Amino acid sequence: MKNIKLLNKRFNNPLSCLAIYSPSIGKILDGNLDIILIGDSLGTTLYGMKNTQGVTLKMMKEHGRAVIQNIKKSLTMIDLPFRTYENKIQALRNAKDILNYTKANLIKLEINKNKLKIVEHLSKNNIGVVAHIGVTPQNYKDFKKIKVFGKTKKEQNNLIKLALNAEFYGAKAILLECITENTAKKITSAVSIPTIGIGASKYCDGQILVFDDLINLSLNSYKPKFVKSFIKFNKLVKRAVLNYSNEVKLKKFPTKAYTYK
Ligand code: KIV
Repeated sequence: MKNIKLLNKRFNNPLSCLAIYSPSIGKILDGNLDIILIGDSLGTTLYGMKNTQGVTLKMMKEHGRAVIQNIKKSLTMIDLPFRTYENKIQALRNAKDILNYTKANLIKLEINKNKLKIVEHLSKNNIGVVAHIGVTPQNYKDFKKIKVFGKTKKEQNNLIKLALNAEFYGAKAILLECITENTAKKITSAVSIPTIGIGASKYCDGQILVFDDLINLSLNSYKPKFVKSFIKFNKLVKRAVLNYSNEVKLKKFPTKAYTYK
């Protein structure tokens, strides 16, 4: 049963969230995370693109559907990719399309002040919007140019204002990417909807990482400071494959147990 009440900040339950791309991983993780995102970072992480600008609505729909059909308990969120929400009409059409096709619970949009009217329009049409602020990767061709936001008073005030406006226009949560501790803390206490941070300190109501980064599997050469690998999956896989390969070469595999009579 999906628990939308998770997004009630009063429960003070830190939200654990991950971006994933694979149906089998979705099945394993279902219920162990509060929110599962099908992120457009699949472009860089999975397809080896240089940025997320080449990710299409079709890619997000197919991936989203394949993953989300395995998720029964965790809330699900999906990105609208680059240039698919340029105006209210296009945004609503594409949001409805991707939500109908994938059955995701929430849509995530990378926003700035010019996109607030889109947040409002989707929210008024009963679409649960998560507003992604700070570093919004869809704006970068070269991820090496990404810098942390919220260092200056002006940036801090602009981000607080943007978060408050996103809440006012109906966003259900705010995702903060690459934002200084001090600014993240101020945003989290200013808004009454949850903040979910990625590189935005512990002063958020939840955290999100990319699954492939967490297990050290990502193809990305760009590795931001906020990425923590919790296991070295690449090493585990290499060891297993080496064992397999040795058994094949020594004719130890397959044994009778793996053979049809
Ligand atoms: O696309 C994505 O995976 C994201 C996360 C980095 C939050 O937006």
